[in-house]
Amino acid sequence: MKILLFGKDGQVGWELQRSLAPLGEIVTLDFGSREYCGDFTRFDGIADTVRAVAPDVIVNAAAYTAVDKAESEPERVRLINALAPAILAREAGKLGAWLVHYSTDYVFDGSGSAPRMETDSPAPLNVYGITKLEAEQAILTSGCNHLIFRTSWVFAARGSNFAKTMLRLAQQRDSLNVIDDQVGAPTGAELLADITAHVIRISRQRQNISGLYHLAAAGETSWYGYASFVLNFARQRGVKLTVAPENIVPVASNEFPSAARRPKNSRLDTGKLQSTFDLSLPSWETGVARMLTEILEKPL
Ligand SMILES: NC(=O)c1ccc[n+]([C@@H]2O[C@H](COP(=O)([O-])OP(=O)(O)OC[C@H]3O[C@@H](n4cnc5c(N)ncnc54)[C@H](OP(=O)(O)O)[C@@H]3O)[C@@H](O)[C@H]2O)c1
Repeated sequence: MKILLFGKDGQVGWELQRSLAPLGEIVTLDFGSREYCGDFTRFDGIADTVRAVAPDVIVNAAAYTAVDKAESEPERVRLINALAPAILAREAGKLGAWLVHYSTDYVFDGSGSAPRMETDSPAPLNVYGITKLEAEQAILTSGCNHLIFRTSWVFAARGSNFAKTMLRLAQQRDSLNVIDDQVGAPTGAELLADITAHVIRISRQRQNISGLYHLAAAGETSWYGYASFVLNFARQRGVKLTVAPENIVPVASNEFPSAARRPKNSRLDTGKLQSTFDLSLPSWETGVARMLTEILEKPL
C-alpha cells in the first residue's frame, strides 16, 4: 500500500508517521517540503503532488488550527481547511484512492448536553468550524472513498498543549482560573493515529465503510476538570506547585473573552465507530496520564 501523508509535523501527523509506517510505503509532507508540494495554499502544487505520488490512501493531517486567530483571516483559513481538502477529494476520486481527513466537534453549536451523533445537524460558531464543515461537505459530495474522523480537544506530548500550560502556570502563579462550562473529551494524537491505521487496514477489504465517524476518547470533562486531573497527577509525582489542584477556580467561558466563540457541549457519540470497527475507546484519563508521564520524565 502507498500512503501520502500531509501535515506530517502536526500533533496528529507526527503520530501518524509512526502508526502508518508498517502499512507500506509512506510519503510524508509538510508545509515546506521540497520534493513534492505540501503547502495547502498552493492548489496546483497539491494536485500535482497527488498525481505524481499516485497513492492508494491520502491522509490529511494538515489544517489551520489556531481557532482565535482564524477569526481575523477567514480567507486564508478557508484555503487551508476547506478548499485544499476539496482538491484532495477531487484527486482521490480520479485516482480511486481513499481520503482520510480529520474534522472537529466545532462543527456543532454546542447546545444541550447530549453527545452529538454523525446524523445531527451541524451549526458552527466560528470561522474554524465553518471551514472544517465546508471540507466535510466537499469530501462527502466528491464521491471519493473517504474516512472523516471528527474529534475533540486533541493533545500530544510533543509541542505545546493545555496540560503543559496548566503545569507551567501552577508553578508560577498564586491562582488559576479555568473554564468549567465547556465539556468534551481530551483525545490523544496517539489514539487518533492508531485508530486511523487500524481503519485503513480494514478499508482495503471493506469499501462500504466509507463515511463520517465521531472519534474521541471515552468519558467527559470540562477544562477545569482536565486541569484538576493534570495538577493532581503532577502533585502525586512530586512536582512542586504554587497552585494546588483543589485551589483552581472554576469560571464561566464569558470570564475569558476570546475572538472565537466555542461550543459548550463538545460531547461526541462514538457508537458508530466502535460498532463498525469493533473497537473500544479508552478513557480520556488513560491518554492524558500517559502523556503526563512522558512529559514529567523530562525537566520542565
Ligand atoms: N487540535 C485540536 O484540538 C483538534 C480538535 C479537533 C479536530 N482537530 C483536527 O485534527 C487535525 C489535526 O490537528 P492537530 O491538532 O494535529 O493540528 P496541528 O498540530 O496544528 O497540525 C496541523 C499541521 O498543519 C500544518 N499546516 C498549517 N498550515 C498549512 C498549510 N498552508 N499547508 C500545509 N500544512 C499546513 C501545520 O504546520 P505549522 O505548525 O507549521 O503551522 C501543522 O503541522 C486537523 O484537521 C484539526 O482540524 C484538532
